[in-house]
Amino acid sequence: MRKTAKFLTTASAALMLLGTAALTPTTAMAVDDELAAAGKKVAENRKKGNCFTCHDYTGAHLAGNMGPPLTGVSKRLSRQQIFNQIFDATKANPNTTMPPFGKHEVLSKKEINAITEWVLTL
Ligand code: HEC
Repeated sequence: MRKTAKFLTTASAALMLLGTAALTPTTAMAVDDELAAAGKKVAENRKKGNCFTCHDYTGAHLAGNMGPPLTGVSKRLSRQQIFNQIFDATKANPNTTMPPFGKHEVLSKKEINAITEWVLTL
């Protein structure tokens, strides 16, 4: 009898965990929080990303309006597309005003990778 009760408790705890995982909307694109925090620092550094000059996003201390708001971009673009956009925006649009951060070596691939992670959290 005792054993059955213990089994039931464990089983329902496991089900609860499964339920939480299923409810988390970001399961398809899990984000590394530490990397994202590092990316935010580079993105908001005036001499590095300086993204808020042109983009608005939740928590931005300046609301740039040259580019589209970055909030919710992860619903439209994949991780790779976001990386490519930051690395060289001229690939998607030769007339863009967004600087080709990677091509011009303003940001390293490592920095762009971190910024991409941060963009996924917006
Ligand atoms: C000088 C202005 C400028 C700066 C600085 C800038 N962007 Fe952009 N960005 C744009 C514009 C304009 C677009 C619209 C697309 C185009 O022009 O082809 C864009 C598009 C994007 C997109 C695609 C959005 C979508 O909905 O399709 C992403 C993602 C993006 N930028 C991220 C960034 C990040 C991250 C930074 C900082 C590292 C940054 N941008 C810095 C101007 C800028």
